[in-house]
Amino acid sequence: MTISARSVASPRAVCIADLRSIAKRRVPKAVFDYLDGGAEGEVTLRENCRVYDDVTFRPRCAVAVGECSLRTRVLGFDLAVPFLLSPVGYSRLMEPGGEVSAARAAGNAGTAYILSTISGHKLEDVKAASRGPVFYQLYLMGGRGAAEAAIDRARRAGFSALVVTIDTPVSGIRERDFRNGMKELISGSVFEKLPYIPDILAHPGWLAAYLRDGGTPPLANVIIPGEGPMPLVDINAALAASATTWADLKWIRELWAGPIVVKGVLIADDARRAVDEGAAAISVSNHGGRQLDCVSPALRALPEVVKAVGGQIEILMDGGVRRGTDIVKAICLGARAVLCGRAYAYGLAAAGEAGVNRAIEILRVDLDRTLRLLGCPSIAELDRSYVDVPKSWD
Ligand SMILES: Cc1cc2nc3c(=O)[nH]c(=O)nc-3n(C[C@H](O)[C@H](O)[C@H](O)COP(=O)(O)O)c2cc1C
Repeated sequence: MTISARSVASPRAVCIADLRSIAKRRVPKAVFDYLDGGAEGEVTLRENCRVYDDVTFRPRCAVAVGECSLRTRVLGFDLAVPFLLSPVGYSRLMEPGGEVSAARAAGNAGTAYILSTISGHKLEDVKAASRGPVFYQLYLMGGRGAAEAAIDRARRAGFSALVVTIDTPVSGIRERDFRNGMKELISGSVFEKLPYIPDILAHPGWLAAYLRDGGTPPLANVIIPGEGPMPLVDINAALAASATTWADLKWIRELWAGPIVVKGVLIADDARRAVDEGAAAISVSNHGGRQLDCVSPALRALPEVVKAVGGQIEILMDGGVRRGTDIVKAICLGARAVLCGRAYAYGLAAAGEAGVNRAIEILRVDLDRTLRLLGCPSIAELDRSYVDVPKSWD
């Protein structure tokens, strides 16, 4: 299947679930499951999406809403929509343009893109592709020397913020990746790859693009001093050897004068600690259910964090966002904006940059319609009075 705007154009992809279905057909199972899957029993993955059903709207009817404003400010940046594109490691596996395509789509839509440390594209190329702000998500893979070099390059390239992810002391176990031979496909011998080859061959369009792209390049922004770019061999081992602690955050603060977002906060204590350590924002997140399974769904964790932070810094959240109504609910509960992960990555896997554009457009139109139906003229005016939440959440 060729990658084209037509393959995701309305009415084929009416909602994010449609993009997911197209992606599932277009890319090999190993790639789709890497994107779609979660840790262990996938309890948190499922709950992240389902929990939005627990929150219901309280619309103001018979209100004439003229122009709706979807604008918001995050870290001082004026964004056209209240969602940013979250870091998605190895987006290049879904489509060769990967991180560059996603950054360009975000910038064209007037929002920010967050580049994962786990990227085959150089951070300079990703920054150059976008007309909007680009943030760099930092893991300490490869040690402090590699991280310091990446921070320095990000500063010189014009990145606007660092996003430090704190929920990955080791990589979560995503069982689908094991069953699909993800590790063998990336770094195994030909013999080890063999059982998984038929499924790859069954997706010739994806395979041709992958081969034209030169296969799996190393991590372009994790440069081990004296060695060069870290190969994409065993990400799990690299992550386990580089867990980010509060002490590391202090060290990062000394190197980076710009804003820092701490991503992966779920409880009040960690939220207060992030404030004390000088974070400019928090993302309430469980990594899309890919790390520790059976933690709170992100939306459910939001009220506790909002209360603990008491307006001292900005609060973002991510996890399970698939519709504009999800975004509105998170903002009503105190988020400044949300980060979308799979929502745009399904678009990327379905149709490259055209697919990311389509995902953004679906969410934008959803948001506009939801505000009008709620009788609320702007994102800035949303508050708790527009939703009912279960009593146990208060
Ligand atoms: C395939 C994939 C790779 C991801 N890689 C990273 C990463 O490298 N760094 C990070 O902080 N978060 C990463 N995340 C988590 C997302 O940034 C985000 O927290 C999560 O996807 C939100 O949940 P959602 O996908 O339901 O929107 C990844 C998510 C996915 C789906």
